[in-house]
Amino acid sequence: MPEYQSLYRKYRSQTFADLVGQDAASRALQGAIIGGRVSHAYLFSGSRGTGKTSAARLLAKALNCSGRARDSAEPCNKCQSCVEMTAGSALDLIEIDAASNRGIDEIRDLREKVNLAPAVGPFKVYIIDEAHMLTEPAFNALLKTLEEPPAHVVFVLCTTDAQKIPLTVIGRCQQFVFRRHSEDQIVARLTHIAKTEDVSVDAEAMQLIARTAQGSMRDAVGLLDQLVPLASGPISLEGARSLLGIADPRLLDELLDHVLEGRAAEALDAAGAELRQVVRGLMEGCRDRLVAALSRHDQAGARRLSAVLDALLHLDGEVRRHAEPRFLVEATLARLAVEVGLGEQSSAPHPAVPAALPTSPQGGEVKAPHKAGR
Ligand SMILES: Nc1ncnc2c1ncn2[C@@H]1O[C@H](COP(=O)(O)OP(=O)(O)OP(=O)(O)O)[C@@H](O)[C@H]1O
Ligand SMILES: [Mg+2]
Ligand SMILES: [Zn+2]
Repeated sequence: MPEYQSLYRKYRSQTFADLVGQDAASRALQGAIIGGRVSHAYLFSGSRGTGKTSAARLLAKALNCSGRARDSAEPCNKCQSCVEMTAGSALDLIEIDAASNRGIDEIRDLREKVNLAPAVGPFKVYIIDEAHMLTEPAFNALLKTLEEPPAHVVFVLCTTDAQKIPLTVIGRCQQFVFRRHSEDQIVARLTHIAKTEDVSVDAEAMQLIARTAQGSMRDAVGLLDQLVPLASGPISLEGARSLLGIADPRLLDELLDHVLEGRAAEALDAAGAELRQVVRGLMEGCRDRLVAALSRHDQAGARRLSAVLDALLHLDGEVRRHAEPRFLVEATLARLAVEVGLGEQSSAPHPAVPAALPTSPQGGEVKAPHKAGR
């Protein structure tokens, strides 16, 4: 039996045509490859899980491919160089993970070896992943190389945090920003993967995964990866929800009613989902109602909802820190009900409506494998 390969690895784009979105970067890179106008240093920045490392490897592959058609940037994926690059054994593709040891030894090593000629193809490509993690001495060493790059070397710095890259380094790089994927792009990709893998996934389950992934194709593929081996038969919306620990929005809506009516604690069980997801769901529901109240000029309603939302935002932060958050959630919701009930008559100053309401709170993704593998 073939070794199980995670979908995440199996569906890494091996051609530019297979790279979803990122049109500006993709087009510019292909143009440079075909025209022989490749820069010595690139900076791929932007949202996580959107194809930066994949694009960097594609660039390396295309540059050293011996089977590439003259008028195309697509690597052949058949020649020795391509095969070795896909397998991760190519000598001319050097990947440095700046996160693992902050890069200082590697950059020193790089400085020593960068002038040596490539082994197989015409180029040596250095991919510096998580480049923002490099130490200052490592950045300085890198900068010296970037100031006088050998003709056969191409650097690709990848980062989710371009603000932490020194301007002196950025100034030497051609920068491309990688954008979050739309839900449609994610659904289309997942549909393609599911079809190729011969698994059936409900359209609504797809939508749910796409929404949960919050623009990261890697997270979306990773979520599908978790669902496929666990599911026997077609993956339904209910199945996806329970596996992802996401509450049913209708139940959440009812729960919010209960909170506002002062019957929160008893209703908590009914939501039947992970607590953090419940709090998250309540926040979203509350925000929607707040927006609606504001647009109705319902001041009293908006004030109440704003107070509830404030408490939920606080609760969301607290829940993450607690090993046993259930009591905390129950207590807060119960207290909230009392306070909100009293709030009508009390003259206590109430918190202002937050100016920017988070549409997608960061840092609490659902069991999505972050660095599952490369
Ligand atoms: N643009 C894309 N098109 C198709 N698949 C993608 C794309 N971006 C990410 N993926 C999927 O996610 C996996 C990881 O992508 P990749 O490592 O290129 O992302 P990244 O932007 O480098 O992420 P990070 O910021 O965490 O380093 C790929 O193997 C692929 O399955
Ligand atoms: Mg990466
Ligand atoms: Zn090739």
